[in-house]
Amino acid sequence: MIIAVDGPTASGKGTIARALAEHFALPVLDTGLLYRAVGYQTQLDHGDADDAADALAACDFPASLLGDPALRYETTGGLASRVSVHPQVRAALFQRQRDFANQPGGAVLDGRDIGTVIAPHADAKLFVTASAEERARRRHAELVSRGVEVGYDVVLADIHARDARDTGRADAPLLRATDADLLDTGDLTIGGAVQRAIALVEARLSRRSM
Ligand code: DC
Repeated sequence: MIIAVDGPTASGKGTIARALAEHFALPVLDTGLLYRAVGYQTQLDHGDADDAADALAACDFPASLLGDPALRYETTGGLASRVSVHPQVRAALFQRQRDFANQPGGAVLDGRDIGTVIAPHADAKLFVTASAEERARRRHAELVSRGVEVGYDVVLADIHARDARDTGRADAPLLRATDADLLDTGDLTIGGAVQRAIALVEARLSRRSM
């Protein structure tokens, strides 16, 4: 069984994907981490994230980079969003994600284009979202709890910029697949969002087996 979880930054899709993986005993891939590794490697190479050739060269990042805490930094998320615009980068990362999805027994993948490009054949698809203000509020609270001094307005502006880049790019933009279930986490607790996600996937699976 393949479960695709897509959505904008800070929507809660990563938490939901991990919870679904645990519930259905499936391996999970955070595909954003691959783009983060490419963005960070571009910077390590003193390249320009907006330059397709520089970003493509960084797709050869060492596997050990995936465990680097720097990949979780806000600045790395911005670099990831910039390198992900280049079709060459998306093509270089495609097969790895497709193979993960198609492994025997299935998998859960979260990202931006899982239900549309990487695994259009997924058994269940969720599009996880919340308003930009709510996502900024959550991201701001998380940063403050980690001791990062940043204003809410700065975080909101960053979320708007990331959304515009992720939805506006020509190749594989962030888009709800026509057969994806919408899950708005705006008014839900983490536990509530996870319960709703499990219920949506189970409903999808039972409809498919009818
Ligand atoms: O999910 P995330 O915030 O870690 O992703 C970082 C960036 O990577 C995101 O802004 C766009 C890009 N990305 C993508 O283009 N396609 C994916 N499947 C996953 C992430």
